[in-house]
Amino acid sequence: MKKTLKKKVEKKKIKEDEKKIVETKVIENGIERISTGIEGLDEIIEGGYPKNSVILVSGGPGTGKTLFCLQYLYNGAKNGEFGIYLTFEEEPKDLKDAAKRVGIDLEATNKVKIIKIENIVDVPQIIKILEEEIKKNDAKRLVIDSISSLEILASTFPSVGLDVSPIKLKEGYVITPQKEAIIRKFLYNLVKYLRSLKVTTILTSEAQNEKYSRSGVIEFIADGVIKLSAEAVGNVLERNLFVVKMRKTKIEGGSYRISIEKGGIRIVER
Ligand SMILES: Nc1ncnc2c1ncn2[C@@H]1O[C@H](COP(=O)(O)OP(=O)(O)OP(=O)(O)O)[C@@H](O)[C@H]1O
Ligand SMILES: [Mg+2]
Repeated sequence: MKKTLKKKVEKKKIKEDEKKIVETKVIENGIERISTGIEGLDEIIEGGYPKNSVILVSGGPGTGKTLFCLQYLYNGAKNGEFGIYLTFEEEPKDLKDAAKRVGIDLEATNKVKIIKIENIVDVPQIIKILEEEIKKNDAKRLVIDSISSLEILASTFPSVGLDVSPIKLKEGYVITPQKEAIIRKFLYNLVKYLRSLKVTTILTSEAQNEKYSRSGVIEFIADGVIKLSAEAVGNVLERNLFVVKMRKTKIEGGSYRISIEKGGIRIVER
C-alpha cells in the first residue's frame, strides 16, 4: 500500500516537471513561442516571443530593462534552457545581487552565464566569444545589454567593415557611404546572424525622444519592440509597458501598468 502511494507521488512529480518544460514550448497558430518570464505578458502576445526572434526592450534609465532581461533568462533556466547575458556596463555580481533582491536567484539555476565585456573593443572578437558560449552551453536564450554599447564599438572600429572612406567609381565620380547606412547594415547583419544561432534574443536600448534606440535603426530591424517607461504622477512612480511591435503576433494592444516588487516585473492592469 505504502509502495503504491510512493509511486504515485513520483509519477505526479515527473508530470509536473514535464508540464514545466511543455510550458516553454507553447505553439500558437503553428509558431513556437518562448515564454517571456514576465507575469501577464505572454497572454498579450499569443503565448510568448516567436522562437529565434530578436526582441528590443527600450526604455529610459531605471525603467527596468535589465530586470526584464534577467527574468527572461531565469524563466528559461528554471525550465532547463541555458541563457547567456552579455553586459558592457554592469558587474555580473551586481546583476546577480539586484536580481536576488527581488527573489530571482540566478545562481541556484546553474543555467545562466553572465559575461562582462571588458577591454575588448573588437566587435568580431565579441561575436566569436558569443558564438562559442552559445554552442558550448547549448544556450537557447540570449541577452545583449545594451545594443547601444555594441553599436558604439562597431562605429568606432573598422574591423567590422564600417569603412566610411569614399568609394571611387570612375574618374570624377565618388560616393561617400553615410555612417547611418553602415550602422544599419551592421545591425541588419547582426540580427540575421543571431537568428541563425537558433537562440531567442533580447537586446536593450535607451529610448531617446521619439526613438526607441540611440541611432533609431534597430527598432526597424528587430522582430519585436517593447517599450518600458516610468513617470512620476504626484508622488507615485507609474511604470508602464507597451508592446510596440511583435512580428507574427497579434498584440492585445495598449499600454499596461507594471510593478516591480518581489518576483520582479509583472503586469498589474491595463
Ligand atoms: N524590490 C524592489 N521594489 C521596487 N522597485 C525595485 C526593487 N528592486 C528594484 N527596483 C526598481 O527597479 C528598477 C530596476 O531597474 P533596472 O536596473 O532593471 O533598469 P534599467 O532600465 O536597466 O536601468 P539602466 O538604465 O540604469 O540600465 C530600478 O528603478 C529600481 O528602483
Ligand atoms: Mg540596465
